[in-house]
Amino acid sequence: MIHDEESSNKSDNRKFSEILEAASSRRSFMTGTISLAAATFIAPSLATGATLNNTVGSRGSGENRLRKGGINFEPVPVSAGTGPMPTISSDYEYQVLIPWGTPLESGIAEYTGDPTTRPSAADQERMIGVGHDGMHFFPIEGRNSEGILAINHEFGSNSHVLGKEAPENDEDIRLSQAAHGVAMVHIKRGRQGWKVVTDSPYNRRITPNTPVVFAGPAQGSSAIAPEAGARGTVNNCSSGHTPWGTYLTCEENFNGYFGDNQGTWTPTEEQERYGFSSTGFGYGWETHSSDRRFDLGSNAHPNEDNRFGWVVEIDPMAPDQPPVKRTALGRFKHEGVAIVEGKNGHIVAYMGDDQRFDYIYKYVSSGNWEEMLAEGISPLDRGRLHVAKFNDDGTGEWLRLTINNPILAERFSSQAEVLTYARVAADLLGATPMDRPEWTTVAPNGDVYCTLTNNSRREEPNAANPLAPNADGHIIRWRDSANHVGNRFVWDIFAFAQDTHAEGDERSFSDPDGLWVDPGGRMFIQTDGDQVKGLNNQLLVCSVYDNGGARSMDIRRLFTGVTGDEITGLTTTPNRRTLFINTQHPGNGDPLLSSFPAEPDGVTIPRDSTFVITRKDGWVVGS
Ligand code: FEO
Ligand code: CA
Ligand code: CA
Repeated sequence: MIHDEESSNKSDNRKFSEILEAASSRRSFMTGTISLAAATFIAPSLATGATLNNTVGSRGSGENRLRKGGINFEPVPVSAGTGPMPTISSDYEYQVLIPWGTPLESGIAEYTGDPTTRPSAADQERMIGVGHDGMHFFPIEGRNSEGILAINHEFGSNSHVLGKEAPENDEDIRLSQAAHGVAMVHIKRGRQGWKVVTDSPYNRRITPNTPVVFAGPAQGSSAIAPEAGARGTVNNCSSGHTPWGTYLTCEENFNGYFGDNQGTWTPTEEQERYGFSSTGFGYGWETHSSDRRFDLGSNAHPNEDNRFGWVVEIDPMAPDQPPVKRTALGRFKHEGVAIVEGKNGHIVAYMGDDQRFDYIYKYVSSGNWEEMLAEGISPLDRGRLHVAKFNDDGTGEWLRLTINNPILAERFSSQAEVLTYARVAADLLGATPMDRPEWTTVAPNGDVYCTLTNNSRREEPNAANPLAPNADGHIIRWRDSANHVGNRFVWDIFAFAQDTHAEGDERSFSDPDGLWVDPGGRMFIQTDGDQVKGLNNQLLVCSVYDNGGARSMDIRRLFTGVTGDEITGLTTTPNRRTLFINTQHPGNGDPLLSSFPAEPDGVTIPRDSTFVITRKDGWVVGS
């Protein structure tokens, strides 16, 4: 989601720009002096003088290259990736699946983008929503041809969903809400390609009105009480998944759905830090005549604002179970979560808080995840939450957010409050404000990557510093001590997006957002923002690993979306021969820009959709 809010971080924590400048001017940081040597990095670094080689457009060859994470497909040229319809590498093909309005039950007509009709709210609650974002494919019995696709419906503007700027009645609000949330959809591949298994017991919609429960340290606390009857998840951005087979959906810009209907609300310090305002993003949910949950001035629902901003766990195989808000992972604008099994089976979660000058977090479970589950304890309920501090010398520290820290004990009365106001706690500990953390991913060698999409409002511009202002974003990389469970790390910059322009438009990308490194070491980069020469947003594949010691980096454009969209969401079948990605807000909802998935006609409303991508030769996607 492109949501360019002002920073709400008024702390004077040192900006990442200053640290990066210092680090970049001190090349020696890559060789590090601590025992956890930076030499463990095996990928090239653009920050340390590596150059992009000129392999875009050339065709690598050989099984060896594929096994080593190489890429070997014809890229989409910049000139081809514009306009109202997608483009894909000539070595690949795609199918459109589950556009907004696809029914999950029989007896409901698909919504096809007719501007003169809209789905009823009741129908929308049984259909695929809008704002396709993070997702995960859960295979049924390990199959590569059948599974449950869990997919986030991050947002849909009123103009797109309702065809008007503001809701006029409760039915409009209910429709807007029903278009948000999460879908669990049973899909299966047949002779005609992939399709929805209509009426499957696995099919499910979760919306801002679905009953939810809380777990972890903030459960039952005064910070979020009363929890009885708690409902909903909203602005579900990216996602993660656990080794025990559940889906994690991340609540990002939840503040935007609240407003002040009566003109009686005065923000608390914490509400200001989380960006609440009297108008929100203009959804108008606070004007609902009988449900005042989103009205900040209403006394009827104390702490409702604190019930959003969490990571929410959903079991795709148990459609009757309520979603669970895992409070141990903290409350902030969660972009996504990358889960990895660390030393001794501890579950580690890396998470970004997507706002200018906000932070990167890490959660570590208190014990071995299998042992915890065997004792009936969720590994996501007991553990330690940390926030990242990046030092100038290429090292970093994970600062623990605990009430046992005297600095936090002075400000908060309980661990529940520390977690509920994690941003405030992180401010107090001196975390490093970043340039909008988006997705995180853990490479098979243990390196962790995070996209920092951009920060146009960075202060202290410095001509010598390519990131001041940071118009195009960059990708940071670190490696933790003690196999992800320690308190220290070493870091460097993997890539500056603007360097890809300098080396030639054919590998160009800007505003990296979605990110995944596959088990072969191929990095998948998805973009959300203005690209060069009117290029639509895109999916690129980058060879992460150093090939034979040469400092080179092969980046190829696999797919481009449609005018006005962003490309996001990424998951594969277990054999990685089928890839699913999304177009979010195609045409920005405007049929004059795109009618996708319909051919452009200037009338039909474009619909968020999933793409099923395969190589024509059937080989692993990205290769
Ligand atoms: Fe929902 Fe930061 O993208
Ligand atoms: Ca973004
Ligand atoms: Ca995003």
